[in-house]
Amino acid sequence: EVKIDHLLKDAGKDFFLIGMAGDLPARYSAEELALAAEHFAAITPENCMKPERLHPQENQWQFERADALVEWARQNQMTIHGHTLVWHAQTPGWFFEGDDKEVIKQRMKEHIHTLVGRYKGQLQSWDVVNEAIDDRGGPQAAKTENLRNSKWLQALGPEFLTLAFQYAHEADPTAVLYYNDYNIESGSKHESSMVLLRRLLADGAPIHAVGIQGHWRSGSVPFKEIEKAITDYASLGLKVSITELDVTIRGASGGQFGGGFNRRGFRSATPPSLEDLKQQADDYAQLFAIFKKHQDVIERVTFWGLNDRRTWRWGQHPLLFDAGNHPKPAYVAIVDELENR
Ligand code: G3I
Repeated sequence: EVKIDHLLKDAGKDFFLIGMAGDLPARYSAEELALAAEHFAAITPENCMKPERLHPQENQWQFERADALVEWARQNQMTIHGHTLVWHAQTPGWFFEGDDKEVIKQRMKEHIHTLVGRYKGQLQSWDVVNEAIDDRGGPQAAKTENLRNSKWLQALGPEFLTLAFQYAHEADPTAVLYYNDYNIESGSKHESSMVLLRRLLADGAPIHAVGIQGHWRSGSVPFKEIEKAITDYASLGLKVSITELDVTIRGASGGQFGGGFNRRGFRSATPPSLEDLKQQADDYAQLFAIFKKHQDVIERVTFWGLNDRRTWRWGQHPLLFDAGNHPKPAYVAIVDELENR
């Protein structure tokens, strides 16, 4: 049994915010809501601010769950990071209908202005563009931005990123604006991210920070690359957050998209071994040692979920609390690392 004597959010306080993702409070138990508010200082809406959920038709907005999250976070003094404005996935087709560049630009603008404007001053920051770089890399691709062939790229060209940042900045000039992506710490995708960020800065795009998502695997976390990526982004004058942290346990079986609602899968999860949990705790401690070392650059470290039931990596036990809300060895390892004990 793991006992907590120091709270994670307090241990992190002098360095950076420590957050979690979730679409709270609906469908969360009272115990889970209390856990979230007790241990985390920041929240990212996991799904409820994505275009598909919020803006299914051009003239239809569904703000109920997003409004509820913002109100719950306010009551619990949690900082909110918005996710996500422009993405290739979970974006309804009406945005791109008609193939008229000006019309599509206008739709993007209206989407961003309405959403960012609604929560102006209430959200600290936004993932403005999510996952725009292609996964297929290589030495040639590494010299270029290697943008994903998304509908946004097809409709507006590479300028779509600059426009998105401009619109977000117009709607809330004080919000910290992020480019957010996965695997951008590694290999040619990292090189491409540097090419892209340099271009956005040269274009005068109001971009302030980079989100390294941080979906990693226990036993093979790329620590060196992560640290280099943090210093590379800092060298461009950008802040960095770890926006979607989870460290899955290798070999554990489970669904990729549990999402927290797949109770059928929940019953068949293989429990992790003690060695697995120890390795995971070591991985997390080593990560937080790096984050602490670069505390001047790191704004926030957010876990992608609340517990091992409320995670898209369901069955792979990636988070700090188990499915029954008990703290895991990783929790204490991180607190000890942050407090130098
Ligand atoms: O809400 C419905 C529910 O009513 C229904 O019973 C259930 C049946 O499968 O589906 C539920 O919706 C799912 C939702 O997760 C909540 O579980 C969607 O189908 C599923 O597509 C959605 O997956 C989300 C995924 O993004 C796609 O949007 C994950 O929860 C979410 O964790 C994941 O997060 C992404 C980040 O936004 C970007 N970076 C990668 C990260 C992980 O994929």
